[in-house]
Amino acid sequence: MEDKLKHLQERRERTLAGGGAQRIEEQHAKGKQTARERLNGLLDEGSFAELGTFVQTGLEDASNLEIKNPGEGVVTGCGTIAGRRVYVFAQDFTVAGGSLGEEHAAKICRVLDLAAKNGAPVIGLNDSGGARIQEGVYALNGYGSIFYRNTIYSGVVPQLSVIMGPCAGGAVYSPALTDFVFMVNQTGNMFITGPQVIKAVTNEVVSAEELGGAATHNKTSGVAHFYAAGEEECLDQIRTLLSYLPANNVEDPPPAEPREPSLDQEELAGILPENPNKSYDVREVIRRVVDGSTLFEVHQGYAQNAVVGFARLAGRVVGIIANQPQVKAGCLDINSSDKIARFVRFCDCFNLPLVTFVDVPGYLPGVEQEWGGVIRHGAKVLFAYSEATVPQVSVILRKAYGGAYIAMSSRSLGADICLAWPSAEIAVMGPEGAVNIVNRRELEAAADKEQLRQELVRQYRDKFANPYIAAARGWIDEVIDPRQTRAYLLRALEALETKREQRPLRKHGNIPL
Ligand code: HXC
Repeated sequence: MEDKLKHLQERRERTLAGGGAQRIEEQHAKGKQTARERLNGLLDEGSFAELGTFVQTGLEDASNLEIKNPGEGVVTGCGTIAGRRVYVFAQDFTVAGGSLGEEHAAKICRVLDLAAKNGAPVIGLNDSGGARIQEGVYALNGYGSIFYRNTIYSGVVPQLSVIMGPCAGGAVYSPALTDFVFMVNQTGNMFITGPQVIKAVTNEVVSAEELGGAATHNKTSGVAHFYAAGEEECLDQIRTLLSYLPANNVEDPPPAEPREPSLDQEELAGILPENPNKSYDVREVIRRVVDGSTLFEVHQGYAQNAVVGFARLAGRVVGIIANQPQVKAGCLDINSSDKIARFVRFCDCFNLPLVTFVDVPGYLPGVEQEWGGVIRHGAKVLFAYSEATVPQVSVILRKAYGGAYIAMSSRSLGADICLAWPSAEIAVMGPEGAVNIVNRRELEAAADKEQLRQELVRQYRDKFANPYIAAARGWIDEVIDPRQTRAYLLRALEALETKREQRPLRKHGNIPL
């Protein structure tokens, strides 16, 4: 036994050493931690239980302690975060550049399977040179097996991808299939084809960071949902996100004590500017309504004309969606439609109620938007809200015009409780646009066009741009004092707590993509 224990000890030590001291030093010199250091930082102390420690390709002689690629370049297992079980994999760049071969992929598939069977979130820390070139099609099959699992477990357990090094070629599609992508600035990169290939094919010159760094994917492409300045901040963000999420699609998120907003709710009456064409920050409203005034934004840097994120109301987790008048007047456009639809669908998968704050003048006009397919993208918002069966509450703060009124959690799309502030303007279009069309002839004939226009706009606003016509039909349940918004939302969510909704049987819907 003594010999066997010694052999085990040596084998374990060699495996745990990864690519060895020099490569670990090189990893640190790049500002990156090793896979094991990252897992230690992420998980509760001492909670990591490794799985597949001794996996290795083509072992024929078990007495041979020469391990070519310790752990096959990935550390896998489970542990806890804030006492809740999670499954994890962390690619080890010190071993063959974290490249993915057959056994590396099999280890990842195993944690994905275990996460789904045990109803626990799975977190993947990516840092890899991509498909292990020497393993050819075995590596490709490995990626395919991961993509398949990412897909079939979507909506079963939350899947988080963290980009802490290179992630290139087809490898990017596993993160892209998961629920949330975190990226670390300067070290995390994602692209299908790198700068050299792009230079050769299109003659464009671009750095890796500019092409596929954390800033690019958080602001421009929307591929990433969270931007971190460094690895530690990134691990903190993961823990914060998990604190809002249920472990799976049949459990509730972790409970929390209700907290009053720390910002003054009385101030809600004074947030909207007197001039309805002036902007304001919708987060000032949200923060005065939610527990502890805390909103955890998702996709914060992307499509900023919409705000989405998690918050708590009387301790319950809700998904918050809002138009942001500060950016593009809060219009819906291609990117904000994608952002909203994706978030709504995540919340619906995991049974998180939706609370929508509406101030939307319409869809963004423009040739670029039309040619870019704003019809197709905008339809995703309609589909996502209509499809959602979780409790849905909306609050119209100010503008709710045209198709965008319908899209933003209206009664017609299945919202359960619709509230409006007295400042709500619910109509087919804004007063200026409407007057220009309906009163065109009178305006052309008028001696003082501007004076008449102003008078007609005022008349239109009084007659149509208010919440009472919709409230008269019951499409708005209550017109409320802004300072009572939290109280109404708490009551609404309580009333909807046991909501059950059946839909016609079908295989699945066909969301416009
Ligand atoms: C095998 C690899 C590898 C790979 C890196 N290594 N990538 N081994 N297959 N894909 C090895 C290197 O040979 C080296 O080993 C060690 O990892 C560290 O790599 P370096 O190049 O020294 O590191 P660095 O300078 O930091 O550069 C990192 C890198 C570069 C940018 C990731 O290694 C690189 O460009 N690798 C290839 C990327 C790539 O084209 N991958 C295939 C993408 S296609 P030694 O022993 O020499 O130190 C793909 C298809 C997936 O992934 C399809 C899915 C559907």
